[in-house]
Amino acid sequence: MAAVAKWALLLLLGLALLAPAAQAADNKDKDKEKDKEKDRDKDKDKDKDKDKDKDKDKNKNKSPPPPPPYHPPPPPPRVPSPPPPIVSYSPPPVVSSPPPPLPSSPPPPVVSSPPPPVPSSPPPPVVSSPPPPLPQSPPPPVVVSSPPPPLPSSPPVPVPSPPTSNVVYCKNTTGYPTCTAPATCPKKCPQSCHMDCDTCKPVCDCNLPGAVCEDPRFIGGDGNTFYFHGRRDRDFCLLSDVNLHINGHFIGSHVPGARRDPTWVQAIAVQFSGHRLYVGARKTAAWDDDTDRLAIVYDGAPVEVQGVANVRWEAPSSPLSVTRTKAANGVLVELAGVFKITVIAVPITEEDSRVHSYGLRDGDCLAHLDLAFRFYSLTDDVHGVLGQTYRSSYVNRLDVAARMPVMGGERDFAASGLFATDCPVARFAHGRRADALAVASDELMTSVKCSAGLDGVGVVCKK
Ligand SMILES: *[C@@H]1O[C@H](CO)[C@@H](O)[C@H](O)[C@H]1NC(C)=O
Repeated sequence: MAAVAKWALLLLLGLALLAPAAQAADNKDKDKEKDKEKDRDKDKDKDKDKDKDKDKDKNKNKSPPPPPPYHPPPPPPRVPSPPPPIVSYSPPPVVSSPPPPLPSSPPPPVVSSPPPPVPSSPPPPVVSSPPPPLPQSPPPPVVVSSPPPPLPSSPPVPVPSPPTSNVVYCKNTTGYPTCTAPATCPKKCPQSCHMDCDTCKPVCDCNLPGAVCEDPRFIGGDGNTFYFHGRRDRDFCLLSDVNLHINGHFIGSHVPGARRDPTWVQAIAVQFSGHRLYVGARKTAAWDDDTDRLAIVYDGAPVEVQGVANVRWEAPSSPLSVTRTKAANGVLVELAGVFKITVIAVPITEEDSRVHSYGLRDGDCLAHLDLAFRFYSLTDDVHGVLGQTYRSSYVNRLDVAARMPVMGGERDFAASGLFATDCPVARFAHGRRADALAVASDELMTSVKCSAGLDGVGVVCKK
């Protein structure tokens, strides 16, 4: 390249030396012409620019016309819009198409089919390590299968018992539509409460008029609380009216050195219209809330009410009914228009015994009744430990301010037997001849034979 460049320079120098002045003049002319041509080009460029401007102007002027063409396009877009509906319609078909796949649910079958292959495939591995896998696999299934059964079976038992024992709710849903939530009985009365639909709060059954609870504490028809101790292993008239008589059988323990023996109501005997009802707590060594210890006998025949809450038994010959308030140890005894008696069988707990020095003995938890009476048709002549408090003329002579006002008069209320209506204050019109009838005590319950009484209305029970 360098050599070629040198030769080019020499040629140029030679030409420059030989070239005449005339050529220089020609060059000047050519330059002028070139300039002219440049000018012409410039003019052309200017014209071109002008044309461009003119085009722009034309475009501006012509813009109105173009719009029409452009507006038409919109329609096309509208045309696509119809398609959308079509698209929307397409979904249904799409939906319809899925069904086919569903019916074709071959997938499931496919899944089901795999298992077979799987078993078939495992065999080989099993075969490879036959002894270990086989023994191990069988045991697990057996163990796994056995646990499930116990689990389901065990939960049911504990689950139902708590709710039935101390959960209450308002059963009158039509009268109290807002009181629907269940409630738990207060600690004071974990076993014996009911829902007061008016206040929508649980109320201890033993805190209302007509209550006979604990050792034994009464709440009279007048609302005042008092104690009536009676005497253990004796019977007393709780209420006696012309058409209704109720005795209570008292049990107790012996506390050496104490001023008196503590007592409880173990059973009641209710007589009305020639019928007799016994409700008692069976003698029990070790208490279990879930084991029913109530004994009920109507006209000499044991009343069997299935151990399920709300199961109801109706007497064949009277408007008497017995309804379980819980699976065990709670019933509502009802005689339409006459009374409702809420009965709960409870034990003396070790804590009760310790706190109150009851002297609880081994082998007897002193099972007894907590009772809540409600009466609907008493006469004003009614009497008895509890009955007298429903008289309009009843004047409470007890010191109600005392911590434990005690009603005396054991002699006035003492009866010769559980179904005897011979207490001095007795008002029961049909009772006199009933004195001869034997007592259906708890101990006799399992081995008694009963038959119609001589007068046709009572019942004679013999061992
Ligand atoms: C329910 O409550 C209403 C309002 O207190 C009352 O009128 C009605 O008799 C009650 N029904 C029952 C079955 O107790």
